[in-house]
Amino acid sequence: MAESGTKNGQWLLAARPVGMVKESDFEYVETEIPKALDGTLVVRTLYVSFDPTMRGWMEDRESYLPPVAIGEPMRASGVGQVIESRLDGFEPGDFVHGLLGWQEYALCGPGMTKVPEGMPITLPLHLFGITGLTAYFGMLEIGKPKSGETVVVSGAAGATGSIAGQIARIHGARVIGIAGGKAKCGWLTDEARFDAAIDYKGENVAERLRELCPDGIDVYFDNVGGDILDAALAQLAMRARVVLCGGISRYNDEKPTPGPSNYMNLIIQRARMEGFIILDYAARFAEGAAELAGWLGEDQLVYAEDVQHGFENTPKTFLRLFSGKNLGKQLLKLADPPTG
Ligand SMILES: NC(=O)c1ccc[n+]([C@@H]2O[C@H](COP(=O)([O-])OP(=O)(O)OC[C@H]3O[C@@H](n4cnc5c(N)ncnc54)[C@H](OP(=O)(O)O)[C@@H]3O)[C@@H](O)[C@H]2O)c1
Repeated sequence: MAESGTKNGQWLLAARPVGMVKESDFEYVETEIPKALDGTLVVRTLYVSFDPTMRGWMEDRESYLPPVAIGEPMRASGVGQVIESRLDGFEPGDFVHGLLGWQEYALCGPGMTKVPEGMPITLPLHLFGITGLTAYFGMLEIGKPKSGETVVVSGAAGATGSIAGQIARIHGARVIGIAGGKAKCGWLTDEARFDAAIDYKGENVAERLRELCPDGIDVYFDNVGGDILDAALAQLAMRARVVLCGGISRYNDEKPTPGPSNYMNLIIQRARMEGFIILDYAARFAEGAAELAGWLGEDQLVYAEDVQHGFENTPKTFLRLFSGKNLGKQLLKLADPPTG
């Protein structure tokens, strides 16, 4: 790894993944620390954010963003500190967040956003950033939970799912989370105040959903797809809403897999299943972040951060998302901001 401040360590995309993403799909290189050109900033990365959607960016196919090219630093959000600025409105020392990529120093254009004064610098990477806002708009605009309804969230102990479930609870719903392992399920009921949790690695999900949702599921917020989505579809209540947020159980599949076998229940129950991409709500991000901040201030919401350390561990940290090692938001810390 580059000695701090002498070179720019970067992790490049080396190969298109086949099946489960591997550390060898990335290559470490060292380049010169960039110099600011007119209209740009040089930012030192402090934290890297890891998002399951990055697995899709590694594929050679157009999606809502273009693929990362082979030989390019892996695309990722991050938060860092400006070390050189030739862009109006930014000064050395400012904390900024945006697409910094897997690199210790990034040459950035005007797409960077300042971290608001006094806000912990990691919060724009989750609660007040993509995952928190995905939970907010996905749950409220598509799920539309009502007081007394039963809401089920999969991937519930992750960055998005944990916030989605708490938003439904704040709106008066009874909330059940599905997550992998006893520790995550304990966190959901004890810390995030879900009404119940199902450990899909140790319990029969279909059976537990029948026990816990005898009158059916009114809102199912899905982060994982696959068998868990199928089990939830079988238990829908009349006029249920299924929010398709993500399908992480399928992201590393080599071939497209057949859809859920229980989808006919959408017809029987007059239910609706709808996908969304959070970027479509960009004009309303400030509104969502303000409401989330209010709930956080009133202790109605909690969040968890899983912080790994060391730039050498970048690909390893990404892989944690797909084996469920993270509780809450997966981050990697590269450096502390200078004090004083
Ligand atoms: N639609 C949008 O605009 C949008 C925006 C942001 C995120 N998303 C989606 O939201 C979902 C959550 O993203 P996140 O950033 O908050 O990640 P996350 O939930 O913090 O981390 C991923 C979690 O997925 C679970 N998981 C991994 N493999 C699984 C499998 N085979 N079966 C079931 N669960 C599995 C793991 O938890 P367990 O230990 O419980 O398995 C892991 O901790 C992803 O599907 C992502 O693509 C969508």
